Amino acid sequence: MTQEELFKNLIAHTKEYGFIFPSSDIYDGLSAVYDYGQMGSELKNNIKKYWWDAMVRLNENIVGIDSCIFMHPKIWKASGHVDAFNDPLIDNKDSKKRYRADVLLEDYIAKIEGKIEKEVEKGRKKFGEAFDEAQFRATNPNVLRESKKAEDVRVKMNEALNANDLAALRQLIIDCEIVDPISGTRNWTDVRQFNLMFSTQMGNTSDETGTLYLRPETAQGIFVNFLNVQKSGRMKIPFGIAQIGKAFRNEIVARQFIFRMREFEQMEMQFFVRPGEEMKWFKTWKEKRLAWHLAIGLGKENYRFHDHEKLAHYANAATDIEFNFPFGFKELEGIHSRTDYDLRRHQEFSGRKIQYFDTELNASYTPYDIETSIGVDRMVLAVLSSAYKQEKLENGEERVVMKFHPALAPVKAAVLPLVKKEELTNVAQSIMKELSCDFNCQYEEKDTIGRRYRRQDAIGTPYCITVDFDTLTDGKVTLRDRDTMAQERVDIKELPEIVNKKVSMKRLLEQL
Ligand code: GAP
Repeated sequence: MTQEELFKNLIAHTKEYGFIFPSSDIYDGLSAVYDYGQMGSELKNNIKKYWWDAMVRLNENIVGIDSCIFMHPKIWKASGHVDAFNDPLIDNKDSKKRYRADVLLEDYIAKIEGKIEKEVEKGRKKFGEAFDEAQFRATNPNVLRESKKAEDVRVKMNEALNANDLAALRQLIIDCEIVDPISGTRNWTDVRQFNLMFSTQMGNTSDETGTLYLRPETAQGIFVNFLNVQKSGRMKIPFGIAQIGKAFRNEIVARQFIFRMREFEQMEMQFFVRPGEEMKWFKTWKEKRLAWHLAIGLGKENYRFHDHEKLAHYANAATDIEFNFPFGFKELEGIHSRTDYDLRRHQEFSGRKIQYFDTELNASYTPYDIETSIGVDRMVLAVLSSAYKQEKLENGEERVVMKFHPALAPVKAAVLPLVKKEELTNVAQSIMKELSCDFNCQYEEKDTIGRRYRRQDAIGTPYCITVDFDTLTDGKVTLRDRDTMAQERVDIKELPEIVNKKVSMKRLLEQL
């Protein structure tokens, strides 16, 4: 099965089992907007809790806030979003479709890279055991030619983007002979800048003064509360402010399921430091954030850092933590050294002095900022796509199982009376009542036990607890492990401790 087919199956699975639904589904959906169902919202909440506890609870010098989506419109002028939060867009005159110019070029580069990988595979097959991949890549004329072609396009694209040279960007699309995937023609318009912020009106004024923007990042809510938090919390540099919240972007290229949405959620942390110490903290936060990802066990090989060549207008260093999604390595989290740009700009635009008095240095300064920013939905997608497994069992049957880390699994345990008989259901319900105080559990009495196991596998429940007739005499139940499918008899009294040991978030936090 190809990665593409696997991804399609995953999307269908998430709908069938209540993880993710297209928004406004009965009206045929709304492009790039998705709702989380009963399983998805549990999973998402667990991810958010893991992030919040890792940031706010494990770091004495980080506090959390919850600022509003609506903010004073001047904030977006100060932050640079009104003038510089744009995507370069190009239209095809025949299909009337609109594309991001840089994405057309990135897709073109990806195609060349695909050709290179095919060439390497051919070499591997031809030379068998004796194949030396590094030497092949360094010497094969086809690989060298294609690599140079890709690199040339990448360099030219970055130069054009950095210089905001839209004509050069268009010329590159023409020179690469990129065709519209729908019309198949090269009949392109000029490239234009398109602002990604959604706007709305506040109150009853329809003129510009009432225009508000839906925030495109949660970060600004932190910057404008810097003084409030620092003073009320008597925070000392270095310290951080974290928040989780919705953000909105009018993305033109909205695709790949919940990877790029128009309404999404971010988990952002701004860490304020002394000027000149930002690179040390940038390195620290790169390491800390990677450790957070690795603890959930999606595999070290599925992460890589991608340092930015093109820096955002506010940054003096930036890297992405990329994850190996079903459609390849893509940005999961951004870590930016944002200098003192944001606080300085808000000082300028608000007229309020935003400075910190450092008692150790006996000096005032505008703190520098290191930002860690991860999309909740992208994290959900990373977890879902790694967890999704189609397995062939020894008896020839197949099962689909979501192998979530138990701390993130939406349902922690399912309580199942073997048959629907009152003496069994009474015991099962009392176990359910006891466990539900600590864990999200499901009670199921319909269908054969085998079918119920499959349903729990499909939503990734780590433990199934079966009550049978022996339970009535020995006070024990059958505990089935999702991953190994091994079953063991355990005492009912031991259940809370056994389940807790497996699913506790502590197991993750201890590794940080
Ligand atoms: N405050 C900095 C900032 O917003 P960003 O790289 O634009 O930086 C940070 O976004 C993270 O937010 C990304 O790494 C990604 O995980 C998530 N994100 C950004 N745009 C998104 C979108 N349209 N849909 C889903 N997640 C998105």
